[in-house]
Amino acid sequence: FTANKLNSQAEITLAMIKPDGYYHIGDIIAEIYKAEFRINKMKMVHLTKQQAEEFYAVHYGKPFYNNLVDFMSSGRIVALELSKPDAIQAWRNLIGPTNFEVARREKPNSIRGKFASDGTRNAVHGSDSSENAKIVESNFFFGRNSFKPVALFDNSTL
Ligand code: TYD
Repeated sequence: FTANKLNSQAEITLAMIKPDGYYHIGDIIAEIYKAEFRINKMKMVHLTKQQAEEFYAVHYGKPFYNNLVDFMSSGRIVALELSKPDAIQAWRNLIGPTNFEVARREKPNSIRGKFASDGTRNAVHGSDSSENAKIVESNFFFGRNSFKPVALFDNSTL
């Protein structure tokens, strides 16, 4: 009964350790477990420029878009499907504000507060509050037709 109840309350979100966060992977995964998320799936990949463009298509045309796409395809990243009750908001809270200066000033203990280094290099990604975005984002990395990983960890049947 307890397990079912927990499962029925759990929500999933898509987290990503960006190329600059890759060097802090151990610290970031420790934070994930300390906050009592379950890691359902984890995949290490090096996005092509096209894949980065697709993931961030919602920002197409914005002044930071090209920079963002170049950065996101510049090195390895780790995508994680996390689960716990209210996971989307809980993960947004743990990562802190988008802007690195705001994060450092107002949420110095958040993941971005500790590891972000400029407006684009902010260490991690988290789905926003849109249910649809979360499903699309998780599917982007873990769907049946998604691309080959450098390494894959799949805990979803345990
Ligand atoms: P956004 O979706 O606004 O933030 P979040 O990642 O917190 O959901 O922006 C996506 C990414 O785009 C952001 O993590 C970093 C980059 N970005 C910039 O490089 N410059 C900017 O001015 C903004 C707003 C975002």
